[in-house]
Amino acid sequence: MTGTKSGCGGGGCGACTVMVSRYQPATKTFTHYSANACLLPLCQLHGAAVTTVEGIGSTKTTIHPVQERIAKAHGSQCGFCTPGMVMSMYALLRNKPQPTMEDVTQALAGNLCRCTGYRPIVDGCRTFCQVRNSGLINDWKEFLPLDPTQELIFPPELILMAETANPETLTFYGERTTWVSPTSLEELVQLKAKHPKAPLVMGNTNIGPDIKFKGVLHPLIISPSRVKELLPTFLDEVLPFSAGVWVGAGCSLSEVRSLLEKLVPQFPEEKTELLRSLNQQLGNLGNQQIRNVASLGGNIVSAYPNSDLNPVLAAGNCKVSVISSGGRREVPLNQDFFMGFGKTILNPEEIVVSVFIPFTRKGEFVRAFRQAPRKEASFATVSTGMRVFFSEGSRVVQDVSLYYGGMGPTTVSAAKTCTAIVAKPWDDETLSKAYDIILDELVLPPSAPGGKVEFRRSLTLSLLFKFHLEVLQKLRDTNVIKDEVPEKIWPLPREIQPSLQEFQAVSKDQSAQDPVGRPIMHRSAVGHATGEAVYCDDIPKTDGELFLGLVTSSRAHAKITAVDVSQALQLPGVVDVVTAHDIPGMKFRPMSGQEEELMAETEVECLHVFVLESEAIEKSSYYEPRRSIERGNVTEAFEKVDQIYEGEMRMGGQEHFYMETQSMLVVPVGEEMEFDVYVSTQSPSAIQEAVAETLGISSNRVTCHVKRIGGAFGGKVTKTSHLVSITSVAALKTNRAVRCVLERGDDMLITGGRHPVMARYKVQVGFMNDGRIVAADMEYFTNAGNTIDESVLVVEKMLVHMDNVYNIPNLRGRGAACRTNLPSNTAFRGFGVPQGLLMVENMVNDVAAVLGRPADEIREINMYRGPSVTHYKLEFSPENFLRCWDECKLKCDYSARRKAVDQFNQQSRWKKRGMSIIPIKYGVAFAESFLNQAAALVHIYKDGSVLVTHGGTEMGQGIHTKMQQVASRELHIPTWKIYISETSTNTVPNTCPSAASFGTDANGMAVKNACEILYQRLEPVRKKNPNGTWESWVRFNRRLNILTDCWRGEDLYMDWEKMEGRPGAYFTFGVSCSEVELNCLTGDYRTLRTDIMVDIGRSVNPSVDIGQIEGAFMQGLGLYTLEELKFSPSGLLYTRGPSQYKIPAVCDVPLRFNVYLLPDSDNPHAIYSSKGIGEPVVFLGSSVFFAIKDAVAAARSDSGLVGPFTFSSPATPERACLACNSQFTQKIPTSKPGSFKPWALNI
Ligand SMILES: Cc1cc2nc3c(=O)[nH]c(=O)nc-3n(C[C@H](O)[C@H](O)[C@H](O)COP(=O)(O)OP(=O)(O)OC[C@H]3O[C@@H](n4cnc5c(N)ncnc54)[C@H](O)[C@@H]3O)c2cc1C
Ligand code: FES
Ligand code: FES
Repeated sequence: MTGTKSGCGGGGCGACTVMVSRYQPATKTFTHYSANACLLPLCQLHGAAVTTVEGIGSTKTTIHPVQERIAKAHGSQCGFCTPGMVMSMYALLRNKPQPTMEDVTQALAGNLCRCTGYRPIVDGCRTFCQVRNSGLINDWKEFLPLDPTQELIFPPELILMAETANPETLTFYGERTTWVSPTSLEELVQLKAKHPKAPLVMGNTNIGPDIKFKGVLHPLIISPSRVKELLPTFLDEVLPFSAGVWVGAGCSLSEVRSLLEKLVPQFPEEKTELLRSLNQQLGNLGNQQIRNVASLGGNIVSAYPNSDLNPVLAAGNCKVSVISSGGRREVPLNQDFFMGFGKTILNPEEIVVSVFIPFTRKGEFVRAFRQAPRKEASFATVSTGMRVFFSEGSRVVQDVSLYYGGMGPTTVSAAKTCTAIVAKPWDDETLSKAYDIILDELVLPPSAPGGKVEFRRSLTLSLLFKFHLEVLQKLRDTNVIKDEVPEKIWPLPREIQPSLQEFQAVSKDQSAQDPVGRPIMHRSAVGHATGEAVYCDDIPKTDGELFLGLVTSSRAHAKITAVDVSQALQLPGVVDVVTAHDIPGMKFRPMSGQEEELMAETEVECLHVFVLESEAIEKSSYYEPRRSIERGNVTEAFEKVDQIYEGEMRMGGQEHFYMETQSMLVVPVGEEMEFDVYVSTQSPSAIQEAVAETLGISSNRVTCHVKRIGGAFGGKVTKTSHLVSITSVAALKTNRAVRCVLERGDDMLITGGRHPVMARYKVQVGFMNDGRIVAADMEYFTNAGNTIDESVLVVEKMLVHMDNVYNIPNLRGRGAACRTNLPSNTAFRGFGVPQGLLMVENMVNDVAAVLGRPADEIREINMYRGPSVTHYKLEFSPENFLRCWDECKLKCDYSARRKAVDQFNQQSRWKKRGMSIIPIKYGVAFAESFLNQAAALVHIYKDGSVLVTHGGTEMGQGIHTKMQQVASRELHIPTWKIYISETSTNTVPNTCPSAASFGTDANGMAVKNACEILYQRLEPVRKKNPNGTWESWVRFNRRLNILTDCWRGEDLYMDWEKMEGRPGAYFTFGVSCSEVELNCLTGDYRTLRTDIMVDIGRSVNPSVDIGQIEGAFMQGLGLYTLEELKFSPSGLLYTRGPSQYKIPAVCDVPLRFNVYLLPDSDNPHAIYSSKGIGEPVVFLGSSVFFAIKDAVAAARSDSGLVGPFTFSSPATPERACLACNSQFTQKIPTSKPGSFKPWALNI
């Protein structure tokens, strides 16, 4: 079955979501819940029914309404995440056929999508909430109705088994592990006494990742999931007079949530303070799939440093009941319980049976807070549980507990602080002393694991302050005090509103059959949603197939004196080891005139033991050539300006995080050195060439096939050719098919990503007091890593775009690709432009801040107007850009909202709003002319069906859908008669990579040419039989079997000597306005609204293009506000999976997300007057960065700080909070750089 995907293997991406159903014979009821297949041990599923995406519908039978709606709402692009999305939603609907929007966003919180930006997925799912959408899918009544009576039934044989089977111990014997599942507590106790080291596996969300990623081996695993005493059944016994509730330790966290939700309304509010806080914390813990399996006992015993529950349970005076062969005992969950990382006071043979959660008393208040790198599906940076108890009618503290997660190796108590608070009145004075004590008490050394030391310390204070405010409010509400409470800090808004997508309808004269310009669904959307769409790793295994794993060097720079593979060969399953010596042909790939070794032969390649650009600059470690460009005379201009400002900015890199990791299969065909290569790549011809050169054979022996790619974003060109070359060596050596699919961690480690950049405009920006920027001098340093790859080209693209939309008469840019010992960085959507332009826009912001004027005004003053010339002497018209700017301001009601933001900020101290409007002018196409060509092969078969093949690869951008539309228009036949099966080098040779936002432009013209010629050839027969059908025209016409034609783009170039050129075919323009709300105490923010206006000419397919716009924007939002690569000081990548590296999730979608396509725009340079859109909008994600910066500026001005300030990207909660410079962050002592070794470096 191909439906269930694997994107991470660790429960962090949701691609593998399935639904698990169980039958409870006691109540004769069924439970259905979503779960991550990657963490589900098969043995644990005894008696359960598992439904995968194939089970709910397929194109061969009928599709399920969820599949239909996500597909029709344009909710899939590459489709790799789609089966997981479908299953999360399906499981929700099985429990709640008419969910609320909150249910939908919770259900999807653990499912990552790197392509769509989530908006269309949410809109598709919203139709089940019976809420009207606007925009692309407002006609939801056309969808199949959801009929719960038609759902799959639970297998009767499993019901029978559950009802009749005499439960007995189950034992599964594996090669290395034995799994025992007892049925009684007594047996469980005996087993544990005999095997104290054997883990008890419930949800497997701790043990599973340990086994998978840390290589932990457990010879025996005990599964207590069938032991009744640990399960929720006896929970119903909570009586009104109880002191609290005993909860089975084996309850899943979702079960605990439902129990709490049921209990809370049954008791007076004062009794349920702790229950409510726990419930709130549970809502934010992990994601739905994790909560559905992870157990309460497992969470407690795992004793994570940043557990969400333990601080609250401890603060709330909870206790556990444990059992062992020595008997039962009750153990309080207090500071003595949590002993260290993953360690508790319990003996190894003790089993937690249940957890006691007490009711609170009158005058007792409990709160739980957390701050995480991402709002949802993310471990907390700091979590807390806080409880205070007052004697009746008094503000004097009788008892208080403060517990923190994230402030040490396990949950810690701020006991001294508590002692200082007890017997004191709850007021500012007491709390202000408490802040000082807690600072001394919860100390983190500057090199503490996890980093973010200042931030974490400041959170201990600001979260206590938040508690202080909430308790004051409570005391006031209960008439204990009459004080004015300074400010209630409301939670950030979270409900995603219906959004708008506006585009120009096709003209009334256009034939109804002509699909060009219409919002046609992605041609594979239904296949994505049913899981039938085949990706590289879905190709069935061939006989004798082998799997290739890569062994990476543990040292960045080392000499290889010998390779001893004998031990590796002894490992079970290992057939052979491939080293550089096995390569018969070229042992390297040529890149930008330099050689990159495929596998280290004598020396591990990284030559320099430093990882930062600054170190590279110091040691002049650059890849050549370095580039510079200048218009006017910058030096002279600086002498005449009114003011000069110097700044510096740093921006982190980005991991592609395509949902499908690098995947390939090389099959020796068996004769004459022929190889079939199935691979997930944007550049089939580059792969063909790489394999041929590596194996020392000619290209005509290698056929490369690409059916579809599960996301690429620039990362599946050069790095893929290295990997496939190595795989082909293994295939040659063993003469067997060899498959290589990288684990997420290896993919992140090996394949590099977007270049981090440091820019200086110290190097000055000179401007007049009226806001005109007269001169700017920028210097860019990119961190290229240990090989050159395309780094110099990235620098060039940065310099070419550095004017953005501004007519700065004296402009100089210099750029260098720094050689460091990080893994080599490579192409990534936008190819340097998102980095370069961030610096430019930051510079403009700084000018505005120096002058004390609104940034949008300074932008407008400096924009190109009328006939214009770029800094590389290209004439162009900015008219459409100016229209985008004006229209965007109008659509988003900029002026009124700006005023409202300022007003909000005047009234609010701890929450600030920020707003920004950011433009882009993006040159589309490759600057090298030879890359701007394409060919197509069109077959018309005798039955009238048409097979189109072209050079573009389908990676979610919808190129095949658009090519179908083109062929349909040119051949005057409906799209369903046209099929596109794959991209392959034996049908269309010498293709150019699908990149540079140019795929549709180039391949569209090739398909159009080919079809035009074919249609002309039909003219005689058409004239002879004008009333005939398409089939009748083509049936007997021999000249129409095939045709291939080549399209060559315009001559583009960049002459760096003369500093002039035409590096792009035309410009795509866009403007985005974003508004955020920032919690200054924690740095948490929410994008309240984003409006994007883009000029993409006349869109070939507005729904596909809007999908590209939204997806690119969200990728930009991730780049500028969320995604952080963490390297150790020696260059080791820490962030190797979704648990550590956070890409945007559903919780990051702007609450209102409107996209408009500029009407009445023509483009003579591309097919049907359209424009490329794949890359440009990534940069517009920076409108969120600048909105956060705007909010931070408002917070700083409350602290008396005005003017420009340094703010690096990404604008994470950590950076935003520290930059706000509140009274809490000011208290945190900073360690002198150089006086300690940091845990991670800012790269
Ligand atoms: C993707 C992901 C995201 C997560 N996000 C969060 C988060 O945001 N916040 C958070 O707090 N946690 C988070 N977690 C951690 C998760 O909550 C815990 O892993 C989970 O609660 C452990 O329960 P389990 O049943 O899966 O434990 P298992 O993996 O089955 O077992 C874990 C350990 O607990 C022991 N154990 C289990 N039950 C008992 C028992 N009854 N008595 C004695 N010992 C027992 C086992 O011996 C084992 O050592 C996340 C985990 C994942 C994978
Ligand atoms: S593959 Fe299972 S959650 Fe990512
Ligand atoms: S469509 Fe979601 S990851 Fe590609």
